[in-house]
Amino acid sequence: MVLQKFVKDSLTTMTELVLPNDTNTLNNLMGGKMMHWMDIVSAIAAQKHSNRIVVTASVDNVSFAQPIKLGNVVTLRAQVTRAFTSSMEVFIEVWGEDIPAGQRYISNKAFFTFVAMDQNGKPAHVPEVVPETEEEKALYASALRRRQLRLVLAGRMKPHDASELKALFELENPEV
Ligand SMILES: CC(C)(COP(=O)(O)OP(=O)(O)OC[C@H]1O[C@@H](n2cnc3c(N)ncnc32)[C@H](O)[C@@H]1OP(=O)(O)O)[C@@H](O)C(=O)NCCC(=O)NCCS
Repeated sequence: MVLQKFVKDSLTTMTELVLPNDTNTLNNLMGGKMMHWMDIVSAIAAQKHSNRIVVTASVDNVSFAQPIKLGNVVTLRAQVTRAFTSSMEVFIEVWGEDIPAGQRYISNKAFFTFVAMDQNGKPAHVPEVVPETEEEKALYASALRRRQLRLVLAGRMKPHDASELKALFELENPEV
């Protein structure tokens, strides 16, 4: 198995056109359709990193800052920020684009977590991530904090063991 991979190795971009069947009654892209596309683009990024079948383990908070209109183009960009033992955090950015009007706008950003599976359907080891750019390094560093938060929320980690979260609160509240 390859032991390390760069963030750019998992970079995946997907482009879609918002068609009538993708919209709500206000002619905006349905949130569920957007999440479907986000799940696909991020799963492909996780597959590229691990060279394995992957399953979605969790989806962090997804908020919709801007509606995307019927006829607009949606671009989704995903890359693995950090890998742990069998899980990978993927960062997804989504843009809407009104090409005739020459307008491009950020719609939302989110973090999804995937787990690589072996031939027996068990979690499999994945390569480490090597961040190169400043943004990649920042996302890599903060990934541990996000992992602990999502594992605590999922009841898979005791708050007491979430060292990164404790350090964060201690930093912000030195009196406590
Ligand atoms: C995700 C899944 C593989 C975890 O299996 P498990 O038997 O609990 O395995 P483990 O306890 O060894 O956990 C495996 C990894 O998943 C991670 N994980 C499990 N639940 C998680 C959650 N809610 N959020 C983030 N990561 C999670 C663990 O932290 C671990 O990561 P690590 O190996 O990098 O430390 C299993 O729960 C599963 O198959 N879920 C269904 C996946 C699916 O069907 N997705 C599509 C749903 S629409």
